[in-house]
Amino acid sequence: MNDHEHEHKAKEYQDKGVVPFWPEHLLKELVVGLVAIAVLFVFSLFVHPSLGHVADPGDWAYVPAPDWYFYWVENFFDVGGYYWSVLGLVKYDWILMFLVPAIGVATLYLVPFIDRYPERRLLKRPLMLGLLMFGMLFLGYFTANGVYAHDTLTAEEPYNIFKSSCATCHYIQGLGGDQTGAVKTPTGQWIYPPDLSHVGSILSPAQIQAQLENPKGGMPQLNLPPAAIKDLVPFLSNLK
Ligand code: HEC
Repeated sequence: MNDHEHEHKAKEYQDKGVVPFWPEHLLKELVVGLVAIAVLFVFSLFVHPSLGHVADPGDWAYVPAPDWYFYWVENFFDVGGYYWSVLGLVKYDWILMFLVPAIGVATLYLVPFIDRYPERRLLKRPLMLGLLMFGMLFLGYFTANGVYAHDTLTAEEPYNIFKSSCATCHYIQGLGGDQTGAVKTPTGQWIYPPDLSHVGSILSPAQIQAQLENPKGGMPQLNLPPAAIKDLVPFLSNLK
């Protein structure tokens, strides 16, 4: 391109109020991209985050959890699924589990086709800005909720209490435990601790609570804190 053509092009861009793709646009992106890669590279040389513990197929009480940046997906389906079932829509869970995400992803693909409005100032685009804010709040809320669910509740959850205090004697289907140890009852019989998989249809919540507070038969007094009993009773009552 000679000087004259250059000038001509420059004027054309100016008239249209746009900038040339190269070098204005692409070069900048290239530089930012390279800087980002360089930063990551240097970071990886000096920082060595731990990889977590080695997988243990024998650990039946393991609570699988996604990486934190996927907590929002998990938590959305946890919370959403809960309210979905409260609404009595369990039969239609494909709407929540498949249709809703499919519509969300399809919308992302369609946005550039639907939204052809060239305005670039955010405040002049309330709908798109609103959707963006909604998206950020959505991700933020469910991520935070997921962090809370994993870091705070898991330690308290009944199956962790079961694992640490009950699983040496009792078995619950899906949660493991064992009944290998026979226990001597006060009357001198040897019995196996009962399978608790369906204890909710055998004992009432009050009976379960009584067994935990003042164990009968060969079950030892475990001196469970009241909070643990409060968590365990509804949990066990639901095993039907
Ligand atoms: C040292 C072994 C042992 C431990 C630990 C133990 N249990 Fe038991 N548990 C027993 C035995 C033995 C019985 C049967 C008592 C009987 O039949 O009279 C029993 C009975 C029960 C029952 C009544 C079940 C039924 O069908 O009658 C419940 C509920 C129960 N245990 C819950 C628990 C919970 C919850 C924990 C942990 C917080 C726990 N147990 C820890 C040995 C144990």
